[in-house]
Amino acid sequence: MAEAIASSNDFVEVARQHMSPVLGRYFERAFVRGDGHYLYGPDGESYLDFACGIATTILGHRHPAVTAAIRDQADSLVHLCNAVGYVEPTARFAAALADTLPDPLDTVFFSNSGAEVVEGALKLARRVSGRPGIVAFKGGFHGRTMGAVALTSTSLNYRAGYEPMLPGVYIAPYPDSYREGGEEAASWKALQALDSLFASEIPARSVAAVIVEPVQGEGGYRPAPAAFLKGLRQVCDENGILLVADEVQCGYGRTGAMWAFEWAGIVPDVVCIAKGIANGLPLAALVTSRDLQLRWGVAAHGTTFGGNPVSCAAALAVLTAIREQDLIANAAARGAELKSGLDRLAASDPTIGDVRGPGLMIGVEFVVTRESQKPDGGRCERVMQKCADLGLLILNCGVEHQVIRWIPPLDVTSGEIQTALGIFEQALAEA
Ligand SMILES: Cc1ncc(COP(=O)(O)O)c(C=O)c1O
Repeated sequence: MAEAIASSNDFVEVARQHMSPVLGRYFERAFVRGDGHYLYGPDGESYLDFACGIATTILGHRHPAVTAAIRDQADSLVHLCNAVGYVEPTARFAAALADTLPDPLDTVFFSNSGAEVVEGALKLARRVSGRPGIVAFKGGFHGRTMGAVALTSTSLNYRAGYEPMLPGVYIAPYPDSYREGGEEAASWKALQALDSLFASEIPARSVAAVIVEPVQGEGGYRPAPAAFLKGLRQVCDENGILLVADEVQCGYGRTGAMWAFEWAGIVPDVVCIAKGIANGLPLAALVTSRDLQLRWGVAAHGTTFGGNPVSCAAALAVLTAIREQDLIANAAARGAELKSGLDRLAASDPTIGDVRGPGLMIGVEFVVTRESQKPDGGRCERVMQKCADLGLLILNCGVEHQVIRWIPPLDVTSGEIQTALGIFEQALAEA
């Protein structure tokens, strides 16, 4: 029976019968090919792909330099495991990645996914500090593994039934500039709440790490104000706590800076990197100072696949393209165009409560009314599906799925931004 289904031409039906239904899906659509910034369905349908495999294909599909690097590397060595020996693309990418980060962040531990890197950060922080406590923020998303999910509070469904969660994790309020009277007031409120957490629930001297997304991703594309990140840096410095920046979604040029923490003028102790670095091949990195990873200790952590040479060869090609084509500047410029187009549409659509975010990481929040600010996930879902019908792939996020996230490729053009805005405008009118 399984064999008959596996040979069927209808691969969607095959998937429905044999792939796990536990995976939540944005769309019930099939895709057979990607080319540049477009995806194609089995009957030739074309979609402008601003979903980017959830912020991952940052140079679009089949980027010639990335494809060539993958081919060349696959022709010489696909896998070794870094514990077995040194390989050139992995070594070179570690150096190139370290070069994108401020001092003293110069030492890389490779993994395969964002959640895996967050697990590594938790283990490093506890081992090095000898402290149990970890502070994360409400609305944060750090992954689905048992450690990472304990830090995640974007949806009850990610946590319910998996208790007890990792002990020693505390979830503190995150500044919500939209609902709490702007950046300054929201930052002050969240920093006060952290102080009160340290006064009433866990002493700061028992906390190993504070982990924060400089722009919350799954939680609704909510940028952390600079004052908040500066405040966190100060609290961590005063109490010997490691500050971990989860840049899995907001890093790598996405916000119009290489790293989102740069906007606040701070340097974290640990940076978690994944998603776009190999343009869709599995690769992730935990970066810290050399000193921290020396103190972590030999064989205190490990991996079979992390730092795979094919992924690292692809990653080197991605970083070269970012540099040679000045794609961080492009992200800033195209982001400004997109933001002003969205602001224009929001001005005449009362269901849009807020348009926010730096560079090409823009959230559009749908509300029942602007006065109530009550999230409207239903409207957001209808707009997202209508955009797909009209040939534009964009995704939602937010605790109530009420935010459309705009994450086009970093090399998106002005023309594509205008096409997407046109489709979005039509979807707003028809959804
Ligand atoms: C900020 C952040 N951290 C961690 C993760 C987990 O990454 P992965 O799905 O690769 O495990 C994600 C995924 O969306 C993320 O956005």
